[in-house]
Amino acid sequence: MLVSGGAGFIGSHFVKRLQRSGDDVVVLDKLTYSGNRANLPADVEFHHGDIAEPADVARAAAGCDAVVNFAAETHVDRSILAAEDFGRTEFRGTQVLLEHLRTSGIRLVQVSTDEVYGDLEAGGSAKETDALNPSSPYSAAKAAGELLVPAYVRTFGVNASITRGSNTYGPNQYPEKFIPLFVTNALDGQSLPLYGDGRQVRDWLYVEDHCAGIELVLREGAAGEAYNVGAGHEEEHENIEVAQRILELTGADASLLRRVADRPGHDRRYSLDTSKLRALGWSPETGFDDGLRATVDWYRDNRAWWEPIKSGEFREYYERQYGERLSTSLPA
Ligand code: NAD
Ligand code: DAU
Repeated sequence: MLVSGGAGFIGSHFVKRLQRSGDDVVVLDKLTYSGNRANLPADVEFHHGDIAEPADVARAAAGCDAVVNFAAETHVDRSILAAEDFGRTEFRGTQVLLEHLRTSGIRLVQVSTDEVYGDLEAGGSAKETDALNPSSPYSAAKAAGELLVPAYVRTFGVNASITRGSNTYGPNQYPEKFIPLFVTNALDGQSLPLYGDGRQVRDWLYVEDHCAGIELVLREGAAGEAYNVGAGHEEEHENIEVAQRILELTGADASLLRRVADRPGHDRRYSLDTSKLRALGWSPETGFDDGLRATVDWYRDNRAWWEPIKSGEFREYYERQYGERLSTSLPA
């Protein structure tokens, strides 16, 4: 199995999961700022390369039966600061993988996101047949990439499926994302920058549950089909509620929570109808309370993983993203 983007957060958990299932795993990863070789077991076959480069894909995929593509630029805020790499990796990279399928005949699972459906503020849950309506440069690039999949299935008969996962959290997540940023800032006694009114809703999915859903689609998903992977209504929480829970679990002072200028184009709510994947036998096993507690414990016990990250390139990004915002923030 080739796992592209396997050195990132979800991809590295997926690699370990496949190894536990007895699969031989090969990883192709560009090691961008969020890719980390230390996320992976030392014995995994690793190729440093780019999914948008045909030669890198051909080299890594030689002898593989399938590819699961996690490789992407993944942070909405960074796509607002500079979107170019998002288009290249999400669209061109997916196209290179699909072109490889045409000659090799191997299977692809394209890991996409619930953000392709856009804002569901008005209510309801997105079904796989709903129109795509992305809001950010990130989600538009993800939608563009995944739209190639049914087109290549129909036109060239390749064997490829799509997963659309909801907001995922757990160990090893790069600390720019909401939960790991707030947890590590709280552990360090730093401000927690809550965007806007903090009433935005996300459907929080524990990383192992997300990986289990992707593995099921890899083994049993139909070509040309998309499958939603989300925790469901009971795990839809407002950001402010999640932030308060993090303050409790870390024992940090409530005054750290700051209301800052909102994200431009910020989607208010995501929600997925997951009945299609549940009909194949999948359901999430880790509730938000247990998953968040385990995640906080992991970050508390693994400072050696995240402290070097937060002192490197991250500092410059943090200043650009939050410097002005925090200087004009209000208590939340
Ligand atoms: P991440 O940023 O932790 O990992 C992305 C990985 O892709 C990194 O290892 C990076 O080095 C690699 N990469 C980037 N560009 C590459 C390229 N051109 N060639 C090869 N490797 C490249 O992200 P993540 O949170 O683990 O997300 C993985 C996938 O899951 C992404 O496709 C993302 O869109 C999707 N997804 C994420 C979430 C979430 O909440 N984190 C939810 C739904 C879907
Ligand atoms: O829904 C799936 C998507 O979830 C994935 O496709 C993306 O790769 C992943 O990054 C994530 O996107 P979000 O934009 O939903 O996640 P993020 O962690 O950036 O933000 C979650 C919520 O928290 C969102 O409403 C914005 C808010 N937020 C985020 C940050 C980083 C804050 O209030 N303050 C912050 O500093």
